[in-house]
Amino acid sequence: MASVRFEAVSKVYGSDSKALSNFTLDVADGEFVVLVGPSGCGKSTTLRVLAGLEEATDGRVFIDGVDITDETPSKRDIAMVFQNYALYPHMTVFDNMAFSLKMRKLSRTEIKRSVTETAEILGILDYLQRKPRELSGGQRQRVAVGRAIVRDPKVFLFDEPLSNLDAKLRVQMRNELARLHSKLKSTMIYVTHDQAEAMTLGDRIVVLKDGYIQQVAPPLEVYNNPANRFVAGFIGSPAMNFFKAEVHGSELRAAGGSIQISSTAEGSYTLGVRPEDILVSEDGRFVCSVEVVETLGSEKVVIGTAESGESVTARCKPDTDVRPGGQIRFEIDSSRVHLFATDGVQQKL
Ligand SMILES: Nc1ncnc2c1ncn2[C@@H]1O[C@H](COP(=O)(O)OP(=O)(O)OP(=O)(O)O)[C@@H](O)[C@H]1O
Ligand SMILES: [Mg+2]
Repeated sequence: MASVRFEAVSKVYGSDSKALSNFTLDVADGEFVVLVGPSGCGKSTTLRVLAGLEEATDGRVFIDGVDITDETPSKRDIAMVFQNYALYPHMTVFDNMAFSLKMRKLSRTEIKRSVTETAEILGILDYLQRKPRELSGGQRQRVAVGRAIVRDPKVFLFDEPLSNLDAKLRVQMRNELARLHSKLKSTMIYVTHDQAEAMTLGDRIVVLKDGYIQQVAPPLEVYNNPANRFVAGFIGSPAMNFFKAEVHGSELRAAGGSIQISSTAEGSYTLGVRPEDILVSEDGRFVCSVEVVETLGSEKVVIGTAESGESVTARCKPDTDVRPGGQIRFEIDSSRVHLFATDGVQQKL
């Protein structure tokens, strides 16, 4: 258990490939922090710098207040779980999990107790004598997590550990990791590009883009109050709608209609509206030509075009009468809209 501090860390690969810029972040002891962002934004680089697998070009890294920037990986007491599991193929599950303990020269009894206890928590007791190739993807993933747990590290790092699993197993393993964290109360830093994983697992989410931090906040804060247009569009599924907007006095004109807002922010903006804040109603002042209707059972997702020619996505009740080629009318929940200035920064309303 430990706290982690990144202080103005930058990483440049080769002479010009800037992967991480001025990255400063404090992770509290026992906290679960999720790094999220599109491919290539610097997520793995962040973990690799902390683990000592890459050298920071600039800045310092601390564990429990101790500067470990120049420490070798083996001295950092960090366990990392990778996307591809990285199990030793010729060893049994037991030996894979026991490996680091043998290196530390623990007694056979201690090793057996530790591995068995962990295998029990993860539900893999019955597979201890199998080789990795005799396991399913989900079972292999559990072994990889188990191998990290037995080491009892100061910090756990996860690099997209669930991305090779099918959708159902992903959700199941996601819940197991959440349960594991509340049981172990260890410091965990978790990388994903799946915003649903970020929302459900993180005490806090760090949204990255092109090596720069965009926002650091608890999941609901990121969802309800995104710092900028990039975060707004990245977090949330289906994604937020964006419309060109003009504000005059308290009137906001967008998407071929207008709403009243409590703002004095005259000028041109981008209006952001979450799909659940597009309210389908017969006397709505906005019109949308419907192109696609996704019937999901619990709701319908309607995708179409507004009078302004811009795309609209709305979530509505499963019994809403709507079909492709038709039209719907809608209102916008003006208490929940977001306004982004031309530089992308959210304008307070
Ligand atoms: N060894 C390397 N040499 C040169 N450039 C690299 C190296 N590793 C990563 N990069 C570059 O650094 C940037 C960040 O890479 P990184 O692997 O951290 O991204 P990521 O957010 O983990 O992406 P993904 O979601 O695809 O795993 C990318 O532009 C990548 O091409
Ligand atoms: Mg990566």
